[in-house]
Amino acid sequence: MSRRPFIAGNWKMYKTGPQAVETAIYLAKLCSGVNDPEIMIAPTHLSLPLVAQAVKGSAVKLGAQNLYFEQEGAFTGEVSADMIKAAGAEYSLIGHSERRQLFGETDDTVCQKIKAALGSGLKPVLCIGETEAQRDEGKTYFILDKQISDGLKGFGLGELSELVLAYEPVWAIGTGKTASIEQVAEVHEHLRSLLERLFSKDLADRTRILYGGSVKPENVKQLMGIKDVDGALVGGASLDADKFIKIIKYNE
Ligand code: 13P
Repeated sequence: MSRRPFIAGNWKMYKTGPQAVETAIYLAKLCSGVNDPEIMIAPTHLSLPLVAQAVKGSAVKLGAQNLYFEQEGAFTGEVSADMIKAAGAEYSLIGHSERRQLFGETDDTVCQKIKAALGSGLKPVLCIGETEAQRDEGKTYFILDKQISDGLKGFGLGELSELVLAYEPVWAIGTGKTASIEQVAEVHEHLRSLLERLFSKDLADRTRILYGGSVKPENVKQLMGIKDVDGALVGGASLDADKFIKIIKYNE
């Protein structure tokens, strides 16, 4: 089964509304005529409706960086999946390592958020990854397997057809330290076989597995050449449209 390559930008807590719009309009222009890969940017919640307008009719799709799993209610400061969908997003990152490390995200809340995303028609991008200490202790697969099996607990096969996985080793995020080709290849192959064991060969074959962690114009082509790498989740290098377009056009 061929999987459509997917290049996504996570803008984290960068850019005001006007700055996000300016970058999005310029990026949309640079992406005109690009059919593959699929392209997504995830600005802050506040910029979602503005950026939705800015990229309308272009190849650039919109994602959120997080959501809250309750539908509505007295949850001061939180944003629901319905609100994100109504703002124009198609995707939402869920369980990014910064949420896990800084904001108490657990595999259990990740699972609830994936359920909420699917319930609102958002496509979840489940982010997983081990810390440097966990890798050094030889616990990489234990951690990744737990993040996947607990994060996807209770879902039926039919529900996960739009799931995207993003493997982001924590020690490679924002550090300039990309995982080696061998490390990425080994983990991605493992993740696909885990999906097969937990769900089915069909789901494993169709699920796109992105790599994230210091992806740059200089290393994207090599990373995208790895058999089980179907895309990239890009932080820093996605903030500058001139840089990000080089990642998007990795094949040219
Ligand atoms: P960097 O590309 O800045 O390392 O960030 C990766 C990331 O966290 C994307 O979600």
